[in-house]
Amino acid sequence: MLRNILFFFICCLSLQLNAQTGKPEKMNAFINGLMQKMTLEEKIGQLNLLTPGGGVATGAVVSSDVEAKIKKGNVGGLFGVIGADKIRVAQALAVKESRLHIPLIFGSDVIHGHKTTFPIPLGLSCSWDTLLIEKSARIAAIEGSADGLSWAFSPMVDIARDPRWGRIAEGSGEDPFLGSKIAKAMVRGYQGNDLVNKNSLMSCVKHFALYGAAEAGRDYNTVDMSRVKMYNDYLPPYKAAVEAGVGSVMSSFNVVDGIPATGNRWLLTDLLRNQWGFKGFVVSDYTSVNEMTAHGLGNLQTVSALSLHAGLDMDMVGEGFLSTLKKSLAEKKVTQKEIEDACRRILEAKYKLGLFDDPYRGIDAARASDILTPENRKAARDIAAHSFVLLKNDKQVLPLKKAGTIAVVGPLADSKRNMLGTWSVSGDWQKSVSVIEGIKNIAGNAAKINYAKGANISDEADFVKRVNTLGIEIDPEKRSPEEMIREAVAIAEQSDVVLAVVGEAADMSGESASRASIDIPESQQLLLKALVKTGKPVVLVLFNGRPLTLNWESKNIPAILDVWFGGTEAGNAVADVLFGNHNPSGKLTTSFPYSVGQVPVYYNHLNTGRPFHIGDGTKFKSDYLDIPNEPLYPFGYGLSYTSFSYSNMGLNKTSIQANEKLEIKATITNSGNYDGEETVQLYIQDLVGSIARPVKELKGFQKVFLKKGETKEITFRITTEDLKFYNKDLQHIFEPGAYKAFIGTDSEHTTELNFSVAGSE
Ligand code: NOJ
Repeated sequence: MLRNILFFFICCLSLQLNAQTGKPEKMNAFINGLMQKMTLEEKIGQLNLLTPGGGVATGAVVSSDVEAKIKKGNVGGLFGVIGADKIRVAQALAVKESRLHIPLIFGSDVIHGHKTTFPIPLGLSCSWDTLLIEKSARIAAIEGSADGLSWAFSPMVDIARDPRWGRIAEGSGEDPFLGSKIAKAMVRGYQGNDLVNKNSLMSCVKHFALYGAAEAGRDYNTVDMSRVKMYNDYLPPYKAAVEAGVGSVMSSFNVVDGIPATGNRWLLTDLLRNQWGFKGFVVSDYTSVNEMTAHGLGNLQTVSALSLHAGLDMDMVGEGFLSTLKKSLAEKKVTQKEIEDACRRILEAKYKLGLFDDPYRGIDAARASDILTPENRKAARDIAAHSFVLLKNDKQVLPLKKAGTIAVVGPLADSKRNMLGTWSVSGDWQKSVSVIEGIKNIAGNAAKINYAKGANISDEADFVKRVNTLGIEIDPEKRSPEEMIREAVAIAEQSDVVLAVVGEAADMSGESASRASIDIPESQQLLLKALVKTGKPVVLVLFNGRPLTLNWESKNIPAILDVWFGGTEAGNAVADVLFGNHNPSGKLTTSFPYSVGQVPVYYNHLNTGRPFHIGDGTKFKSDYLDIPNEPLYPFGYGLSYTSFSYSNMGLNKTSIQANEKLEIKATITNSGNYDGEETVQLYIQDLVGSIARPVKELKGFQKVFLKKGETKEITFRITTEDLKFYNKDLQHIFEPGAYKAFIGTDSEHTTELNFSVAGSE
């Protein structure tokens, strides 16, 4: 009997091994065979990624003669080709008219949804809900693949602590722990169970690396940081994506240790491949190979050779590989092996995606009905509602009653154009729901709705022109600002409550959208002030792709709901929350500063030797003369219509051995008047270390849904694995000693518990 069982296990094991090894062997045989037939030019052609224009070009160059290049076998992939029909035509050129019929890979900036657009990634992250985030990426993959795509340039996992940087909108905020969980969720969502499935997209984690730390928040600017900071704070989300099996990596524009990431061998080979074991391919960002010339690294031939040697496989748009690698090979500046390795990695990706079997994977008339379905829109509405953060709600102004007269005011109230947010290359804004539509959908005839625009998003002509580069998002009226405000005030005076729907236009954040002032633009501030003066309760519904400075607003406006850019269903989701059909539960993943002068301000900073504590004398302490050190709204912060009380916080032991688990418990009670969801947060501080350690670091979070009056006990389990960090020698270690745990509703409102860990691992 035992023998039989053993035999059964051995059979299962060997079957499994065959299944695992069988596939790569088949793939290798296929690719070896193909590569034997390929000329040097065709191999270099695979390394070339082009965009024929028509999509959103994010650089000065758009590719030319694309058709001829495809036929000659000079192109490995395309992006910015929107729609299954166009993709089919382009693919036919490759598989029918090029010598070896090698299919192209089609990529796109599927960033927060494809046709069904979800909240911008910063908003998504504020849900702290990895399952919902994974679901959004899954839906995006289903829709994108039905539209002929195989490759999503997402997730963007750059840690960002500077709200001046517009691309903070595209990531998950300031924290590496949460950022890593989200990175994994998104990779899983895009890639599904197996890349070969026709409803999956190969994910591309970007921008490797450190792009979020651009000096002064200016896009594409220099980055410089210590290795310790890199390893502990900035690199973990990229590593997490690699651990989740991401198929590709996009290099970033910035320098890392003085060398542009795209040509940085330490980054792309030593770290990514040798230390982390990444097996996929690396693509440059848009002309980032060529841009190394402006960085001062040499002419196009030099920087192309440098990039290939560094470990870059595919050159986006710049054609430096295409135009110089052959010459570099002849001059022994690159090796045949380097070209072949890069080519092989790209062919492997195509193989894994099943493109050699079906170059038109996913394109199927029947699948057109997978796109923008009612279910997808329903999911988008739900996910958007989960992303909103209630920043203030004095005297329970919210939720609103579906009764009386409601003034809906502000340039973003009736603006379908701005609902999708930045980077929605395939989303159709005309199919989005505006706030006023959402409010009418929910309130129906039960309340009277009065609308006035009240102000332009901005009245500054040069600024408006720049924001409108990709389309008219700010559409200034001919009427004077005074006249617009007068009209808004008049309807506010006739109403019971005023909804001021204001903030940024969609492309005031995102790529190439840095701002030195992160206030609500002046035209809208004037409107807000006039509305507050009416004495009516004002609810600020804030659209923004970054933290804004809300000093005046936080003091003078009773309720503030941050709705980011919610996507296709934004307006319905906003109305769901305003009227209490959905109780808000989002929590900030990025600190909101009092003033831009505090930037960077983030919760998991190091202590100084002269830390300032409230109540201390202030001379010779690390503080400001004019504002607090803390942000206006901290990481992890967000209110609910109900209240949650925390009790019975405790540890199973105050001192554990290194091989033991620490249990941290808390009891959470919904002590308010609505059912609701709380995100319970656990932070830890390592009190004495071999290097300075942050004042606290997120190490766990749990979402609990509690009915009114309901109580639940939750437990976090911590092992030494959770306490590890990179030391001065960049070893990932745990150090025994004293720790503090903080448990609470946000990074500032916590209960502290002390524990110690003895021994070594
Ligand atoms: C430049 C951006 O930095 C990157 O995120 C994007 O994927 C590419 N352009 C392609 O559009």
